[in-house]
Amino acid sequence: MGTLIYAHRGASKLAPENTMPAFELAHQAGADGIETDVQLTKDGVPVLIHDENVRRTTNGTGFVQDYTYEEIKKLDAGSWFSTKFSDTPIVTLEEFLEWVQDKSMVLNIELKNNVIDYKNMERIVYDLLQAYQLLDQTVVSSFNPDSMKRMKEIDPKVATAFLTSQKLPDLFGYLKRLQVDGLHVKYRLLNKKLAENCMQQNLALRSYTVNRPAQMKKCFKLKCEGIFTDVPHLAKEYRELY
Ligand code: G3P
Ligand code: CA
Repeated sequence: MGTLIYAHRGASKLAPENTMPAFELAHQAGADGIETDVQLTKDGVPVLIHDENVRRTTNGTGFVQDYTYEEIKKLDAGSWFSTKFSDTPIVTLEEFLEWVQDKSMVLNIELKNNVIDYKNMERIVYDLLQAYQLLDQTVVSSFNPDSMKRMKEIDPKVATAFLTSQKLPDLFGYLKRLQVDGLHVKYRLLNKKLAENCMQQNLALRSYTVNRPAQMKKCFKLKCEGIFTDVPHLAKEYRELY
């Protein structure tokens, strides 16, 4: 199969990120997987939104953690992208898992808990993945190292990945201590040496956000396990060419 294509926040170049239209388009494009971002509402409901604040991607203001589920569901998460998508609601993690359940797609659930370390987030997400029997096809990732340790404490079998946008000293010693199964790196950090080291350490290497053909080509050549791309339809074409 080669490098897996994960639609980053869904097919986010074509539809508002992290919404059902973006997920539907990713599926229609034949993406192997979907990457999405989770934050928690005031009443502990996991919802799919990238930022801690709703301002950029909805018609609301303020923090996700200050909205209840009922309140956040009333927001319009589509108009900022295009009027074509007006009144598109924020999706809960549960709605997403229900939708994905009968599709043969892999998932990357990114816990957005590096700015606000939401209480109990790992347990809430784990329980839902288990309830929908999706643990085997999911990688849980985070920029928050403690969160990745907590996830492994809940269940050592959950596939985890540490996200980084920076060069870190003793990276592989650090990843070992976190007991993660994978490394998700910003594209500019990707190189042959890193790919070889990951292979040696049996770590799945994935890179974000890979939107240009030359970048895709490099990821395919280095045999990355996956790329996160806003344009899964194009990545599918290029994967066949290279
Ligand atoms: O999970 C890969 C990538 O999505 C991490 O960065 O800011 O797009 O969530 P960001
Ligand atoms: Ca993300």
